[in-house]
Amino acid sequence: MFFGPPGSGKGTQADRVAGQLSIPHISTGDILRAAVKAESPLGRAVAATLASGALVSDQVMTDLVRDRLQAGDTSRGFVLDGYPRTGTQARALDTMRSPENLLVIHIAVADDAIVRRLSGRRVCDACAITQSVAPGEDAAHEMCPYCGGNLVRRPDDDPETVRRRLGTYASAASAVLDHYRSRHGFITIDGSRRPDAVTADILAFVTSRGGS
Ligand code: AP5
Ligand code: MG
Repeated sequence: MFFGPPGSGKGTQADRVAGQLSIPHISTGDILRAAVKAESPLGRAVAATLASGALVSDQVMTDLVRDRLQAGDTSRGFVLDGYPRTGTQARALDTMRSPENLLVIHIAVADDAIVRRLSGRRVCDACAITQSVAPGEDAAHEMCPYCGGNLVRRPDDDPETVRRRLGTYASAASAVLDHYRSRHGFITIDGSRRPDAVTADILAFVTSRGGS
């Protein structure tokens, strides 16, 4: 499970680790954004919350994750990115899988670095890959180097919403960290270094705890 502030690199690292271990990457943010795009009942219910940078309710998120973890592709393990985010969600996850089998990777990055990163984040509207662009570049003129799609800014990446998301994270984070900190399967990793160094530390930790 990956835990950390918005823009700390959870998605980037979760994708790499899931690929390396050949297990699914389950991102609650991606699931919610797909629902908003599809205008499903869930999407209509959460659209305004996502746009504001607040949290969707514990009940909705817990039902969603419980349901997703019942799929057969999770039997060899999974990488969870974006859940749990509150103490209530952390306690709920303990009822879905054995707590002693859970590895919790807390990625720490300072707020000022996050604001810089998220102002340069673009997501391809066709293949959904995440890219970083130099500050000041105009998204309207960028194309995805992999598929030629449009690189667009996530709606919740405007600076004011990023600050709100950082506030939301700060108010819920200590309950989640308190829940996990004393466990054998918990680590805090400095996410301010280059992505390859972060990945190497995560994979070393997972291997040291018997994951492979
Ligand atoms: P979610 O999609 O999970 O957003 P988030 O937690 O705010 O995190 P991000 O996806 O913005 O950042 P990330 O840590 O994945 O970083 P990334 O790898 O992209 O959730 C969105 C919303 O959904 C929430 O606000 C909430 O409303 C709702 N929600 C979701 N789950 C919920 C739950 N459980 N309960 C309630 N509500 C929920 O990297 C960021 C950028 O930095 C990229 O451009 C990347 O290329 C770059 N980068 C990555 N690593 C590095 C590095 N080491 N050095 C330099 N740049 C880097
Ligand atoms: Mg993400």
